[in-house]
Amino acid sequence: MAKSKTVYICQGCGIEHSKWQGQCIQCGEWNTLVETVVAGKSPKPKDVQIGKMGGKVYVLSEVKAVKGVKRRLEVGSRELSQVLGGGLVRGSGVLLAGEPGIGKSTLLSQSTLFFASKHGKVLYVCGEESVEQVKMRLERLIGYKKTSKAAQRQIMLMPETDVDVVIGIIEQENPSLVIVDSIQAMVTTDLAGMAGSVGQVRESGNRLLNVCKRANIPLYIVGHVTKGGAIAGPKVLEHMVDVVVELTGERMGRFRLLRTVKNRFGPTDEVGVYEMSDAGLVEVTDASKAFLEESQRGVAGSVVVALMEGTRVMLTEVQALVTPSQLVVPRRVAEGVGVQRVQLLAAVLTKSCRLGLSGSDIFVKVTGGLKVLEPAADLGIALAIASSFINIALPKKSIAVGEVGLLGEVRQVAGLKKRLGEARKMGFTQVMTPEKYKRLNQVVSKYLRGTAGSKAKHTTRQARRGESTRGGSIGRG
Ligand code: TYD
Ligand code: MG
Repeated sequence: MAKSKTVYICQGCGIEHSKWQGQCIQCGEWNTLVETVVAGKSPKPKDVQIGKMGGKVYVLSEVKAVKGVKRRLEVGSRELSQVLGGGLVRGSGVLLAGEPGIGKSTLLSQSTLFFASKHGKVLYVCGEESVEQVKMRLERLIGYKKTSKAAQRQIMLMPETDVDVVIGIIEQENPSLVIVDSIQAMVTTDLAGMAGSVGQVRESGNRLLNVCKRANIPLYIVGHVTKGGAIAGPKVLEHMVDVVVELTGERMGRFRLLRTVKNRFGPTDEVGVYEMSDAGLVEVTDASKAFLEESQRGVAGSVVVALMEGTRVMLTEVQALVTPSQLVVPRRVAEGVGVQRVQLLAAVLTKSCRLGLSGSDIFVKVTGGLKVLEPAADLGIALAIASSFINIALPKKSIAVGEVGLLGEVRQVAGLKKRLGEARKMGFTQVMTPEKYKRLNQVVSKYLRGTAGSKAKHTTRQARRGESTRGGSIGRG
């Protein structure tokens, strides 16, 4: 084998440099270059011949499928299985990304229990926690009591951070599943970089993937992501692994969503819903019912919206609170939706529905800790704000679906039929959709103005006054 050499990789952007220098030529960051081992020289293309120097070629008809072995392994959780595209493919590498504390170790610990009962030996590499901690977690989980003593003996916990030692054990033990928790804790002594650096993450990930692929063992790699959402260090792994799934939600909230970001063996728009309990993650099959459990329908400021997560429709409640502001620049606070979107919808309401919101603080929250990115929730968010401001509730069994344009028009959204189907199933009878209403002020007039005409007029006058003293940037309509 040719001698290996090292290059210098930028920790910020992953670009290679042949020699060390203070600043990265690609991203301009200082002191981010780290020495990294790369494989030795490749043979010159003209020297390669079929059958010689590793030039292996297979004729399709001669490739034999592995007989008698199911390609996909059951994972024990319906939600996880669906997100993976119907089970875990042998020899595949799955990156499980998520913020620290969101429940990645919990999810994989539950998988460990199932695998040990169903498929045999599991190697759980706990680079971050002691074996006692991992054992304590396992004992608390749903499924632990059902795990027989024999199955428990199939679980091998390995408190190790040296990736080459881990690889040695994988080769000796040939487990049915390998879990590496987390990749940021793994190092190879061939590199000088610290654990968690781009070089170490990339090299450790690559070595683990290679050995598992060769031995046809499925591999879960845990990767922590930063608050910003980028799979920071493990970003470099995204293109090396077969599947990337992300666990999201509010740490203190009840629900967790498991999403496919990339999948070489299945669709990428699947989503699984879990609820965090004191015995681990519990599958939520009827997400809409769970999200709407504590909703305040029939109270001013509450609106139900229909979201689409992949192919799945989920109904959830958006709440708004609009109060007179004591500040020169009123507050706009949002949880679960972008604050800019709240500002934009407030501006549209001011202009096209003549609501004097410029003197009010506006707070918007999506319950259950969900994040609403879809434009289809615009109408719901706008109506929640209007409903709280006018102080009139929308009908209890009503639901809003539609995008709102800058000119106050209600626009079509994808999957309307499917959303309404789910709404009907959940007992909603009054729907506010782009098909029924072309303009936002039509909905506001029909549901929120009928009984409060005088109040609405009053607020419009206030808006005009407020506007003239504030320079008239909002709501001249
Ligand atoms: P963990 O899986 O350790 O998160 P990660 O590996 O993503 O960093 O879980 C973190 C949180 O979950 C922790 O704050 C405690 C909580 N938790 C429960 O509420 N119930 C449980 O049964 C378990 C195991 C954890
Ligand atoms: Mg963990």
